[in-house]
Amino acid sequence: MQIILCESAEQVGRRAADIIEARVRQGPAVLGLATGGSPASTYAELIRRHREEGLRFGDVTAFTLDEYAGLPADHPQSYHSTIRREFVDHVDLDLAKLHTPRGDAEDLVAEAARYDLAIVGAGGIDVQLLGIGANGHIGFNEPTSSLRSRTRVKTLAVATRTANARFFEGDDEEVPKLCLTQGLGTIGESRQAVLVALGSAKAAAVQAMVEGPVSAFCPGSVLQLHPRATIVLDPGAASQLTMLEYYRDAQALNDGLQ
Ligand code: GLP
Repeated sequence: MQIILCESAEQVGRRAADIIEARVRQGPAVLGLATGGSPASTYAELIRRHREEGLRFGDVTAFTLDEYAGLPADHPQSYHSTIRREFVDHVDLDLAKLHTPRGDAEDLVAEAARYDLAIVGAGGIDVQLLGIGANGHIGFNEPTSSLRSRTRVKTLAVATRTANARFFEGDDEEVPKLCLTQGLGTIGESRQAVLVALGSAKAAAVQAMVEGPVSAFCPGSVLQLHPRATIVLDPGAASQLTMLEYYRDAQALNDGLQ
């Protein structure tokens, strides 16, 4: 795991965007896209680079991490609508190459299997962008998710529904109870993973993910098994890490090498 310590959300966005840009400039790329507040500064920076620096997404295929069950793609709070609003509609990514699980599929189990296979069929994900929930979830893989799980139907934790109620006029009951999410095994197959976390509300989850045991109880800890995972943190999110000095030293050496 590579830990990158940043001074602000904007700097987190720039560091994560650097990794995505480097891969996109190499040629056709498959990106895994996260929703939620955490990647907002990353998307803002990628949009800026598209507008001001000619960063092109024409050769990018994208797969979102997850989707609420029961919401059609055009529902304003579906992750399909969200990722379009926050990123895709502001760059030159071809909508035909944006893939999201169909939350309104009649057979959700079959839809999950289809989605997992579609990722494999596209050649796998080159760079997977991730956030982390305060309970350690990545995607919608709640605590106790199998570390080898594939894309599947999951029940959302009460804490996750409460956290996401802000997108449903503050009403927990309006937040769907089920979702489709890439599994931890699916996420683990990405060639590179970049997780961004902001704020002290994520500090305990970040500490467990980076410094705790690999455990289904902290799904983010599966990234300890990933061959190329980068964790980009603002001061709040990094505030419970115990080896900050080491991460700073390593970062200074790495930055010096580049
Ligand atoms: C959400 C999403 C995750 C996201 C996480 C953190 O419910 N399913 O993909 O990373 O929870 O959300 P936020 O970034 O808004 O704190």
